[in-house]
Amino acid sequence: MRYLTIALTKGRLASQTMELLEQIGISCEEMKDKSSRKLIFTNEQYGIRFFLAKGPDVPTYVEYGTADIGIVGKDTIMEENRKIFEVLDLGFGKCRMCVCGPASAAEYLKHNQLIRVATKYPKIAHDHFYNRRNQTVELIKLNGSIELAPIVGLSEVIVDIVETGSTLYENGLSVLEEICPLSARVVVNPVSMRMDNARITQLINAMRERIR
Ligand code: PRP
Repeated sequence: MRYLTIALTKGRLASQTMELLEQIGISCEEMKDKSSRKLIFTNEQYGIRFFLAKGPDVPTYVEYGTADIGIVGKDTIMEENRKIFEVLDLGFGKCRMCVCGPASAAEYLKHNQLIRVATKYPKIAHDHFYNRRNQTVELIKLNGSIELAPIVGLSEVIVDIVETGSTLYENGLSVLEEICPLSARVVVNPVSMRMDNARITQLINAMRERIR
């Protein structure tokens, strides 16, 4: 039987996913070694192969069918916009996509002014401002520590993930508008879904039952 391949988002999402899989009887001892730099693991008993990828690459592996299943944040699914099926909300990795900035920037939003928006998520930010708010903005793509942008004057606001809110708070910023709630999702390649339906459905149902 061919391996069922699961692409995991490296880091906390992968650990939480492996905890969940362990609860339904699928474990991978080799992956627990935190000092290991290995990227691919197999569970021979279940015929499952896992690999660890960067979040934004998970939808790519799944769209191309190199992974049948992926575990990835909703933020990444929205931003990457790949041809994949989103089949289950795992309920962990919960956070929110928000427009944030100094309190003074609320005025710019209120009057739909032409502001600069720094973000790691240009597509989500574009959709929000152009399609939902009908506001023309200048989008500035950054790769991390987005909170810096309004502090140093690169942008008026940011579009970013807020989990506990402490990064915002410690930098004198706050949430000005919520875009959407986020959490970890299970995505599936559409062809795998048809070709390997029984195995994939069984696995997803077991996960769904467990998190209920
Ligand atoms: C994310 C996000 C915020 C922070 C939010 O950054 O971009 O900066 O976490 O979490 P909090 O509300 O609990 O403070 P991450 O740590 O992933 O790194 P990055 O800045 O490189 O994107």
